[in-house]
Amino acid sequence: MRHRLAVFASGNGTNFEAIVTACERGELPAEVVLMVCDKPGARVVERAARHGVETFAFAPKEYASKADYEREIVERMDSAGVELVCLAGYMRIVGDVLLGAYAGRIINIHPSLLPSFRGAHAIEQALEYGVKVFGVTIHYVDAELDGGRIIAQRAFPYEGHDLGELESMIHAVEHPLYVETIGKLLNTKKE
Ligand code: GAR
Repeated sequence: MRHRLAVFASGNGTNFEAIVTACERGELPAEVVLMVCDKPGARVVERAARHGVETFAFAPKEYASKADYEREIVERMDSAGVELVCLAGYMRIVGDVLLGAYAGRIINIHPSLLPSFRGAHAIEQALEYGVKVFGVTIHYVDAELDGGRIIAQRAFPYEGHDLGELESMIHAVEHPLYVETIGKLLNTKKE
């Protein structure tokens, strides 16, 4: 059985692409049935089109509230039969409507070893702080920013000072770790 995933992203979408490609190659027993993006001009929208993935790209300012756009997201996910929601560079705090409807079924990837360096600029902050071991965390999403239970982490040493180089190293860790972790979660899920 192919499980039904939604991926949420706001920007480039390299993690989205890694997940979709793994599904296409049969490395994950899953299909990305919906890509949700809060920035209609983002590169991830082009990537989704290239892979033929249905997309809901919306501008939050066109809605009266977070609850309003999240209600629309939930409707679309319900009708697409989404089982697991993977946040992949979705730079928005998930609100009560989404958390209520998909409780325990939303995961996120974050470019630091949580609980260190929460928030939107984790890599820059860790570099600025002078840490020597960097890493990536995948965790369940709850009401606290980058605060839900940790599912997987991977660390690596880096003693340089080059943000671009470090970002590339983080991405190289993120892509396989996200695919592996989704695979494990789907395998332990009852069909
Ligand atoms: C990833 O590094 C992800 O960990 C990070 O955004 C990047 C998105 O890259 N997420 C956060 O910082 C969430 N707080 P991508 O668009 O190329 O997948």
